[in-house]
Formats: sequence, C-alpha cells, structure tokens
Amino acid sequence: MTDQQLAEYEEKGAVTIDSPLLDEELDRAETAWDRLKASGDRPYDDPDYVDIVQHPYFEEVAKKVLRAESVRLWWGLSPHERPPWNKPFDSPREQWANGCHVDIQATWEDFQATPRRMRAELWFWVNEVPEDRGAMRILPGSHKPIMQHWSRILTPEHKAMLPRVHGIRPVPSEGAPACREHLPDLSDTPWLDQEPVPYTAKRGQILVLCSGGLHSAWQNEDTVPRKGMGTSWFAEGVRCGLPKNQRDDALAYHKELRKRLRPERRHIVPDNEDWVFETNYDPKWPEMFLP
Ligand SMILES: [Fe+2]
Repeated sequence: MTDQQLAEYEEKGAVTIDSPLLDEELDRAETAWDRLKASGDRPYDDPDYVDIVQHPYFEEVAKKVLRAESVRLWWGLSPHERPPWNKPFDSPREQWANGCHVDIQATWEDFQATPRRMRAELWFWVNEVPEDRGAMRILPGSHKPIMQHWSRILTPEHKAMLPRVHGIRPVPSEGAPACREHLPDLSDTPWLDQEPVPYTAKRGQILVLCSGGLHSAWQNEDTVPRKGMGTSWFAEGVRCGLPKNQRDDALAYHKELRKRLRPERRHIVPDNEDWVFETNYDPKWPEMFLP
C-alpha cells in the first residue's frame, strides 16, 4: 500500500489496492470460498481459507492503515457472498435510502490518533467486482463529518467507549420509536440525496474501508455471486467495543482460528480478551437520540 493510497483512505474513507497474491493463490482462495459456501463448514477448518487470513500482506496493510507497529485480528470473517438478486430491482435511490449505514462509531480524534483507534476493514475480492455485480456503494468522504459529529455531541464518558461496532442509519427505522438514534444531515444536501460511488475491483484486489462513513450493500444484477473474504484489524493496545453476541462470536472464533495458524503467524490473533469490551444498545446514549 503506497502513501498515496493511504492518503486516499484518509480523505475518502475507502481505497482499493492491489494484493501480491498470484493467480494460483487466487484460484485456491476462490475454490476454498466455493467449498465453504457449499458445505457450510466453519471457515477455520479449511486450510486454504486459513492461508488467506494468515498471509502477511493483510497484516502489513493493517499496520499501515492503523499507523501501528503491531496489529491484531478484530474479526476473521466468514466468506462473504452477495448473491444474484432474484426479485425486482429497486431504483438506485431506493437502494441507497434503504441500505446506507455506518457500522463503526468513533470520533475524528480517534481516527486521527496514532495508532488509529479505528477498525481497518479489508475486503479481499476472490472474483471480479464489476459495477453490476453488487459492488459496494460508498459515499466518499462521509466518514469525516460523521466522526466530527460524534466528536461534537458525545459525552466524554461515551467517547471513552469508542471505537465500537454500532450500526446507525441516517433515517431511524419506522416502528421503532424506542430506538430513534439517528445521524442528522450534516451538509446542505441530505445524505439520501447524495450519490454513492460503486467500488469496483479486479479479482485479487482489496477494498480498504472505514465503515465509520456511509456505505451500502447493492443488489447484484449479474448471474454470478460477488465473492469476498473479509478481515478486520485493530492496533495493539486499542480497546474495541462489540455488542455481546458479536463479542462472544469473535472470542470463540479466534480461539479456534489461532490453533490452526502456523506458529510464526499465531500472533495475529489476540491471545486474551482484554482487547474487547461489551457495548450494546442498552444502556442508551441519550445524546444520540432526536430531541
Ligand atoms: Fe456495513
């Protein structure tokens, strides 16, 4: 990952980079992806999948993104599929309105810190991602005003509980009056009137994403699924918040994955539970609700 690509990540909250994986390694990765999808096996039981996760390149990219000497896996994701859409397609505007969200909550100070107190999300594409194959839509640059908003409104007590995984949508969901957390419009153009960018990629490229900005899944108009493998990373020493179910899943997954890594790669999985704390919708943070 070049300095220029890092600068683009900082400015836009997303950048697509090349990986050094060779064609034969990509073939193996895609075959593992297909096999895991067909079998439903746990990903860590497939040595070819484990080989992707432990490839040193991902760790090196995460170090650069997080400005950290040492990084650990936050989540070694299962193979991710965006299957062909088999219902009538919604308009791009509807898809954006229904799908746009942020996943990670952190302040702008968290993002600017060294090491960064943010999750580095690396989406590794094991097949081509043309625009119509459900390429992820991202609103470049939205991460900055959103994180600056959290910097402004959150209490010091709550800021100390970041970064955390906490999905938020610009429009609070109907019928959930108890859960009206929302993201206000932060410029003259409402979020839903802004046009997201499809992040297309070549097979073997990696989308480096800061999901503290707005992005959305997209209906796959192709006949072939979009095949991804994701890992996310944090800088050693940063404590990360996860809802209880995700925390429990991550700790259980890590334990199994760690056993299957080569000894010299085992350090990428945390060997303790100190890095993660539990954060849920309750107790609610009042400053995040509509007045
Ligand atoms: Fe997301």
